[in-house]
Order: sequence, then structure tokens, then C-alpha cells
Amino acid sequence: MLRLLADGERHSGEALAAELGISRAAVWKQVQRLAPLDVSVDVVRGKGYRLRRPVELLDADEITVGLGKPVRNALERLDVLEEIDSTNSFLLSGPKPALGYFRVCLAEYQSGGRGRRGRTWLAPFGRGLCLSVGWQFASQPQDLAALALAAGVAARRALVTLTGLPIQIKWPNDLFVDGKKLGGILVELAAEGHGPCHAVVGVGINVSATPKLTGTPNAWAGGAVDLATAMGAQPPSRNALAHALIEALAGLLQSYADDGFSGYHAELAEADFLQGRRVDADGVVGTAIGIGADGMLLVETNAGVSKILAGDVSVRPES
Ligand code: BTN
Repeated sequence: MLRLLADGERHSGEALAAELGISRAAVWKQVQRLAPLDVSVDVVRGKGYRLRRPVELLDADEITVGLGKPVRNALERLDVLEEIDSTNSFLLSGPKPALGYFRVCLAEYQSGGRGRRGRTWLAPFGRGLCLSVGWQFASQPQDLAALALAAGVAARRALVTLTGLPIQIKWPNDLFVDGKKLGGILVELAAEGHGPCHAVVGVGINVSATPKLTGTPNAWAGGAVDLATAMGAQPPSRNALAHALIEALAGLLQSYADDGFSGYHAELAEADFLQGRRVDADGVVGTAIGIGADGMLLVETNAGVSKILAGDVSVRPES
């Protein structure tokens, strides 16, 4: 039904029923099922149905066409789902990719999208990008602790190339534009001692999801923004975004065991949103003075420089 309505044109109940091979009453029922997904359909008696805002649906072929050979050859499976609780959970609970291969899951809508530290993540149907990439390391890479930071840098690279936006990273890996949160990253690991380690890198981007993101889990105290608003123009297609993010994240995962975090550190330091700001990192209060070569946040306090390994950072008003 959504694929038929996605063009934003008006479709008669009769035509939809014929295309789908169902009754007109069943068409009406299916339209009603779209409401909880936040998809608004205009219904005009006798004339038919039309999406209030057309959506560009995700398309596996469009996403994968033109992927570089090393990435294309290592793609074990890609699922584009209309609805799922969480793309990260989908990959974590499914079979691990074989060594040297990765799996990808995208969804138009997540009913239980997850953010860092137990928060939720919202993505109205077709208005965000919800993408997870799964990979198996043969053994835990040395720089495993900084993988989530490197993933932020890889995602930023892809987004800057496609949008030209001045994207910053709020440590550890929130993607920011003009002090507002554009997207976030959730890396989840399932490891057996020092043996194989299943890593799932999840990326959530607000594409055209506002106006109501501020005050939601997708925001921070300074607010949220989506690509359409930040660019003041039509954002790139979500298929192109997915393509670029997969290329960047798969490349990261493929090389991380050998190359580690060092190739990402300089870019993270350069894009550091917290640099020079007064911060509170889970109780450590001071001035953020950069990010160490190991990925730790450096906070200068009255008692010296503290290295923060993980956590949430809020920015305090200048005093
Ligand atoms: C954060 O900023 O707290 C991280 C948000 C990560 C959201 C993405 S959307 C795709 C993937 N699936 C999830 O359930 N979460 C991540």
C-alpha cells in the first residue's frame, strides 16, 4: 500500500484494491493501519487516497548499486524492513555474519528504537534514517573501546561529503550541526571473553523529521535538527545517504582490527564540539580541552586533567 501511495498522487480505492488484489474495505483497513506509524493519508470521499507528504521509500537495489568492490563483495545480507522494533536488535539477535562479511539492516520505522544509555530513538516513518551494520571480529581488536568514536567520524565523513554541512561531533559520537543534534550512534557488542566479537553499529539520522524533535530523545538540551532544516533545502535521498553510510561504516569495520583508531583521531579532534566549553561529564566538572589519542575526553578541572572513558556530557553555562 505504501509503495503505491509513496508518490503523493491521489489513488482511487478501486485502483488500489485492484493493484493489491484485495477488497475496497480491506484498502480502507490498511490505510487506517498507517496512522500509528505517523503517516497521514488524506481521504476524499469518492476520490481516493493521497499521502499528505510523499515519501521516498528505501530501496535495497538503489542502496547497493555502485558500492565499491571490497564492500559489495563482503555484503552477506541486506534487509530493508518497513517496521521493526530496532535495527540494532534485529542484527544482534540474528545470525552473526561470517568472518570477513557484514550484514546490514534498515527500517522505515522503528517501534522501539534505542539510543545510548537506555534512551529511546524516534524516527517517524520514512523521515529518518535507521541503519545498522553488523560485523564479526575474529578476536577483540586492540582499540575496541574507541570503535564507537571511529564510527561517529566515519558517519560524519559520509554526511559531510553528501551535504556539505559543517557537522561537529559531541563526544563521544553525537552528530551536531549549529549546536543541535542531527544524529546519533549506538554501538553494541556481544563478545566471548577475548574471542570473537560481534559488533553492531547503529546510526540514526534526522532527515526531515522535525518540527517536533526538540524535547524528544533525539535531542539534547540544546535541541535537535534535521537535514532538511540544516541545509535549508531538499536533503539528499535517503537511499543515497544509506549508500554512503554503508560504504563508510563497512570500510571502518573491515580495516579496524588492523588499523585501529589512529586514522580517526585527528578528524574527531578537529570536529570536537565540546572543545573549550565548560562541561559536566557525569560529575567531572571543568573545561573540555580535547580528545586523547585513545579517544578519551580530556577535562581540565581544579585538580588537574581528568580523562573520561565513557558517559554523558552536558554543557554548562559560562560562569
Ligand atoms: C543516540 O544518540 O543515543 C544513539 C541513537 C542511535 C539510533 C540508531 S537508529 C538505528 C539503530 N537502531 C536502534 O535501535 N538504534 C540505532
